[in-house]
This record gives sequence, C-alpha cells and structure tokens, in this order.
Amino acid sequence: MASPSCSCSSSLYNFLIFFSLILFPISTAQTSFRPKALLLRVTKDLSTLQYTTHIAQGTPQVPVKLTLDLGGEFLWVDCENGFNSSSRKPVPCNSAQCHLRSHLKACATYPNKTGAVCSETPVNTVVEKATSGDFVYDIVSVPSTDGTNPGRAVSVPKLLFTCAPTFLLEGLANGVKGMAGLGRFKVSLPLLFSAAFSFPRKFAVCLSSSTKGAIIFGDGPYVLNPKIDVSKSLIYTPLIPVKEIGNLAGELSSEYYIGVKSIKINGKPVSLNRTLLSVDGDGHGGTKISTVHPYTVLETSIYNAVVDAFVKELGNGVVRVAPVSPFGACFRSKNIGVTRAGAAVPQIDLVLQSEKVVWSILGANSMVRVSNDLLCLGFVDGGPIRFVDWGVKFTRTAIVIGGHQIEDNLLQFDLAASKLGFSSSLLLRQTSCSNFNFTSIA
Ligand SMILES: *[C@@H]1O[C@H](CO)[C@@H](O)[C@H](O)[C@H]1NC(C)=O
Ligand SMILES: *[C@@H]1O[C@H](CO)[C@@H](O)[C@H](O)[C@H]1NC(C)=O
Ligand SMILES: *[C@@H]1O[C@H](CO)[C@@H](O)[C@H](O)[C@H]1NC(C)=O
Ligand SMILES: *[C@@H]1O[C@H](CO)[C@@H](O)[C@H](O)[C@H]1NC(C)=O
Repeated sequence: MASPSCSCSSSLYNFLIFFSLILFPISTAQTSFRPKALLLRVTKDLSTLQYTTHIAQGTPQVPVKLTLDLGGEFLWVDCENGFNSSSRKPVPCNSAQCHLRSHLKACATYPNKTGAVCSETPVNTVVEKATSGDFVYDIVSVPSTDGTNPGRAVSVPKLLFTCAPTFLLEGLANGVKGMAGLGRFKVSLPLLFSAAFSFPRKFAVCLSSSTKGAIIFGDGPYVLNPKIDVSKSLIYTPLIPVKEIGNLAGELSSEYYIGVKSIKINGKPVSLNRTLLSVDGDGHGGTKISTVHPYTVLETSIYNAVVDAFVKELGNGVVRVAPVSPFGACFRSKNIGVTRAGAAVPQIDLVLQSEKVVWSILGANSMVRVSNDLLCLGFVDGGPIRFVDWGVKFTRTAIVIGGHQIEDNLLQFDLAASKLGFSSSLLLRQTSCSNFNFTSIA
C-alpha cells in the first residue's frame, strides 16, 4: 500500500504560519452571520460500532454520511461513486494550499488535464488501508449552534478534503462515503471550521450509544439537559505531541495522546511496566484516544495486569465464565449490583499528570452487556507493541482508549492550548451525551 513519501520538508512552525496566513482567506464563510460554534449530530452504528455523522456537501447539495475518526488528518470522501458536484475543484500542485496540507508534497498529473493536481494519502483507519487521492475543495453546509440548540446552517464555500476511490470504504458502516478526520494537525475539520469562522480552535466530542451524540466545534457552552453547561466543570490534562511512525519528515502524529502515568483499580495501583506508558523516540507506547476502536485496547502485559487486578477486586461473590470474544474477562451479572453509572464494579482510574488528576472509568464505561445475564470487562488484548506496517494490524500504542470508554463522557480538545478537558461519567451528574437538545431554533 502507498505510504507518504517525502521530497521536500518544512517545519510544523512553518505550517502553522501558512495556516494562519493562507487558510483563512480561502475558507472564509460567505454569509455575514458569524457562528460561534458548529454542531454535528453523531449516531452509533450498531453493527460496526462506528460513530457516524452527516455533512451537506457539493452542488447540488447532498448529505454525505461519514465515519468519525478522532485522530484522522482530514476529511476524505469517495468521489468515484454517486457524488458529482459542479463546485468541487482540485487544489493545484503549485499552490499554497498544497504546501499547507502537509510538509510532504506529492502531485498527480493526468493525461486529460492541464497542470498537476495536489495529491494526498487518505487512510481508512478502521481496516488500516491507505491509498492516494486528489486534494480538492468544495462547499459544505453545517448547522451552527449556541451551545444549547442547533441554529441556522452556515456554509464554508471552499472546504479542503481528499477524494478517495470507492474501495477505501471497505469495512465502514452501511451508507458511509468517507471519514471525518478531527485530528490535531494539518487540515482536519476542527482546524478548517475554526479558521473559516474565526472561532477558538477547540471542539467537544460527546459520544452516545444512541443516535443523539454530538460534536460541537468551537468553545462552550456545551449544554446538556437538564440545562447543565458541561464546559464549566472539565478537568484538564496536556495533549502530548508524538512523532508519527514511519514519517520520514519527522512530522507529528495527528492523533490525541495523553499522559497516563499509572492505573488504579479500587484505588490500588496496578503493577505494570511503566516504560510502556511513555512514548519512545520512535512513537511506540503511550496512550491515545480513538473513535475507530470500539473498546479500549491494552498492550498484552498491561491487559493481563488490569484483568487480574479487576477480577481480584470484584471478589469471589461474582462468577467468572468463559470469555466472549473479543473480551477476555466475562462474568455472570446476577451478583453484580447496579448504580446510576452502570454496573457496580471496581472503579478503574487512569492517573494523569498528578495523583489528583484522574480519569475514572465506572461500570457504564468499563462493562459491556453481551447477553441477558453476562457482563464482560470491555477491554481487549492488543498484543505486544510492534512496528506498524500498513495492511497489518500491529499494536504500537500501549493504551488506546476506545469508543465504549468515552461514551457519556464529554471530551474537549483545545488545539491552541494543546490540552484535553474531560468530564468523567456524565451519568453521575444525571445527564448523558444523548441529552443535547436537537430541536432547532433557526
Ligand atoms: C456528472 O456531471 C457531469 C457534468 O455535469 C455529467 O456530464 C455527468 O453525466 C454526471 N454524472 C453522473 C453520474 O451524474
Ligand atoms: C481523467 O483521467 C482520469 C484517469 O483516467 C479519470 O479518473 C478522470 O475522471 C478523468 N477526468 C476527466 C475530467 O475526464
Ligand atoms: C518494559 O517494556 C520495555 C519496552 O517494551 C521493555 O524494553 C522492557 O524490557 C520491559 N521491562 C520489563 C521488566 O518487562
Ligand atoms: C428544547 O429546545 C426547545 C427550543 O428552545 C424548547 O422549546 C424545548 O423545551 C427544549 N426541550 C427540553 C427538553 O428542554
């Protein structure tokens, strides 16, 4: 499979300068109404466990269904099939936008076209496949929000994205036409939307197992019924820059890494190899957050230590049964109580930059009901840490916090300050990520 190759380089710093000088004019919104934030509704696809959303794109405008990719570099869309927009235009190879999107510059020439076209590497992170595709722009329309309800829709006339061939949709949910990359760098949707409307480079993700999750691009308030502004009560931890594996230009990964220092279960430290918890010079190890992994993936030695400690703390009163794939630790639910925040099981704490900064995982996020009377610990064994090669699934990260563990937790990604704000379980506050009021006030 194609992987990015480098023929020129520039630094992240240069990129950011390009970003502020050049991106803003090309994606300026056409309406005079200036939204403070934008809103996407997020639905969980129950057969693939992917989180999907829609944007309205092109001329004529059509709804495009997308799988969310929190760490993805940009938006990519299948341009081969059923998508024929008269306003879609290629980004020329020798343009500022082509340099902007990457430190790596690649161009494609077509015998039937004049001038080289900027080329990019779209990645399907669900099946880990990459290819090349034209870097283009087109109009998109997205609802604005005041943080409480959806408002009128606003347009970005020239939103940058990558065209992909239809085969790259392999493994994506039914009806999906591409992936919405929300990553840290380059031309991800949060950065493009913030630049288009000059709002803060922040966005909040609130995933639900229902059809009513939300992403709000821009600053708070983030109001969930009963009228709780979750942006007021977040705990913060730094987002850690990590070198992208295999990137010859030394670029940083667009994925969101946080610094988990230790894991506690029922308040007791789990003994594990701490070397794995920090990222080494080659980008191996550490902890990232992913929406394309339905469950948290742990490196084998961490997985075994966590399962052992969890089983011990759960006690002898609970019957462990044969595992149900993909999980390794399953139990009869008969003797497990129920709380407001899910099954009454030992609390799993991810300890961050200090002992006081803790992301707590309660029963609703740690346990998965696999049948009427069985609950499994919703973590999977990712195997040992190995080098990543496209097309082959190797674990390179020690801890990948997956979708089930972030549902009903609000996460705010602050790209300007490079920090993550998190709420821990909203269920403890008698609200949830399905409580955004989607009644439009436009
Ligand atoms: C796509 O658009 C072109 C030009 O507008 C048109 O000739 C062609 O028939 C369209 N194709 C489809 C599949 O709609
Ligand atoms: C030009 O050729 C390429 C490759 O054969 C094809 O995919 C594309 O649709 C063509 N473009 C036009 C405008 O005919
Ligand atoms: C801890 O992990 C590192 C990195 O994989 C490895 O080199 C080291 O041998 C491990 N230490 C122990 C005690 O297993
Ligand atoms: C949702 O918002 C609408 C419009 O502001 C309002 O009329 C309605 O009462 C709200 N629903 C709830 C449950 O708060």
